[in-house]
Amino acid sequence: MKVLVATEKPFAAVAVDGIRKVIEDAGYTLELLEKYTDKSQLLEAVASADALIIRSDVVDAQVLDAAKNLKVVVRAGAGYDNVDLAAATAHGVCVENTPGQNSNAVAELVFGMTVMAVRNMYNGTAGSELKDKTIGIHAFGQVGRNVARIAKGFGMNVSALDPYCPDEVIEQAGVKPIHSVEELYRNNKFVSLHIPATAETRGSVGYDLISIMPKGGVLINTARKEVIDEAGLAKALDERPDIKYVADIKPDSADELKARFGDRVFFTPKKMGAQTAEANINAGIAAARQVVDFLRDGIDKFRVNK
Ligand code: 3PG
Repeated sequence: MKVLVATEKPFAAVAVDGIRKVIEDAGYTLELLEKYTDKSQLLEAVASADALIIRSDVVDAQVLDAAKNLKVVVRAGAGYDNVDLAAATAHGVCVENTPGQNSNAVAELVFGMTVMAVRNMYNGTAGSELKDKTIGIHAFGQVGRNVARIAKGFGMNVSALDPYCPDEVIEQAGVKPIHSVEELYRNNKFVSLHIPATAETRGSVGYDLISIMPKGGVLINTARKEVIDEAGLAKALDERPDIKYVADIKPDSADELKARFGDRVFFTPKKMGAQTAEANINAGIAAARQVVDFLRDGIDKFRVNK
């Protein structure tokens, strides 16, 4: 059986070694397609694969059509909006993710970018501190929970909104549950986004929410660019010169936002929240183990398609 690791943005070499060991110990063959620049390379490589391990790599109906032997796709990470689940189901392919494995890495980057924002992009002028400030966590999943833990280390007052998470779970983490999205944005100087990109959330954070943030508000996005209404963001930044937006996912209008708002906006060149050796090892090896569990024993505990 052949397991293809297709990563346009490669894992750290040490993680690839770990993945290889898991796959080869199980008696399977590992093939690596890293830094590919054209979809045709993926289509060719996937043709003979029984299993596929990916990151944010797009697996659509065309890829699935080309993958005649494919039985399982494991997205080494949390968000699986890059996989066409309906097409996978139609092709009889199981899709899984590896929840929680890279969440600390993403949460640490939230604070990397937040400190940079309040220290004025390290330009030498007097900035401000995080201690005693309010932070609202928009969705209390695995990343949100790590953000809460780290925020408390900074001495921040932490609130969270998550209609899918019981209040008790939020309270047990020492975090105040919030039940209205307006309240979350109105009352928190910092808001950290952790909602997935779904039909419900696409374009859901825009002018109405960003413009009601308190003075000096900073919106931090390590989730997905799609959840932002970019025209609304630009309008809010225009009207409110005190607000900043820092993101680990370049918006479509990045160049325009940068030209208009300069150092009040910041975008990493390539999504790098999960780009640590630790996260690569955790998510990559978890993915390899899940592939083996599926191919050998039919275990699909982390399946996300029906
Ligand atoms: C995730 O959904 O796990 C993160 O966005 C990380 O994505 P990446 O593996 O492409 O860095």
